[in-house]
Amino acid sequence: MIEVTDLTVRFGGVTSLDGMSVIFEPGTCGLIGPNGAGKTTFFNVLSGFVRPAGGSVRAFGEDLLAMVHYRRARWGVRRTFQTEQAIEELSVFDNVAMVHEHGKLGGASRRQDVLDAISFVGLGADPSARVQALSAGQRRLLEVARAVVGRPKLVLLDEPAAGLPDEETAHLSAVIRKIPEHTGALTILVDHDMSLVSACCETTAVLDFGKLIASGPTAEVLRDEHVIRAYLGTAEVI
Ligand SMILES: Nc1ncnc2c1ncn2[C@@H]1O[C@H](COP(=O)(O)OP(=O)(O)OP(=O)(O)O)[C@@H](O)[C@H]1O
Ligand SMILES: [Mg+2]
Repeated sequence: MIEVTDLTVRFGGVTSLDGMSVIFEPGTCGLIGPNGAGKTTFFNVLSGFVRPAGGSVRAFGEDLLAMVHYRRARWGVRRTFQTEQAIEELSVFDNVAMVHEHGKLGGASRRQDVLDAISFVGLGADPSARVQALSAGQRRLLEVARAVVGRPKLVLLDEPAAGLPDEETAHLSAVIRKIPEHTGALTILVDHDMSLVSACCETTAVLDFGKLIASGPTAEVLRDEHVIRAYLGTAEVI
């Protein structure tokens, strides 16, 4: 369980998170909101890129913000970014292995973990293939493989389906739904594709201008008039 209390982030005059309080339960949770709502900023706080002005985050009983950022990866915080991070000139295997160097495992089990992650996402490419030979959809799956390798406790997916055609989004959706069971990690999915969020997430939280405006069962949240208004500017359109 991730317990966020009164989390506030400021960049100069901009308040990107404004007293955000919410609980994420085990499983896959959605986090949605219009552009600039603060979703990526929240991920940046969890992964240690951004230091908040105030508030707390307890992750499975631990004070996450008290943990130095490089320890968070070892502890089990993993994420994807809105821009792909894989290195084109390296192989699929090496790209996944490089995020799995922090553990205490020996070489053989680390190698097996890397192969398991590649197989879990159903990449459909040889682990020795270079990233530059992959399709756009395969690159997205590779980013997910990098986020699930090893023993993650918290997997943060930042718009993993953006720009993908429907068929590839459907495959990605099936992969995302299996992450909590396969890895044991609590997974938070940020995406603008509401059918993907509905398919993957039992519960969803909504940010608007850095404030939490709704959270609860996904179907209810998507019917909430504050949420509709935040997206469309009016509650009467849907
Ligand atoms: N490093 C930064 N410096 C200054 N302002 C920032 C920084 N990071 C985020 N912001 C601002 O904080 C607000 C929230 O941005 P954030 O990237 O978290 O939004 P988002 O919900 O992820 O949006 P999107 O759906 O477009 O990805 C925006 O106004 C943004 O300009
Ligand atoms: Mg973002």
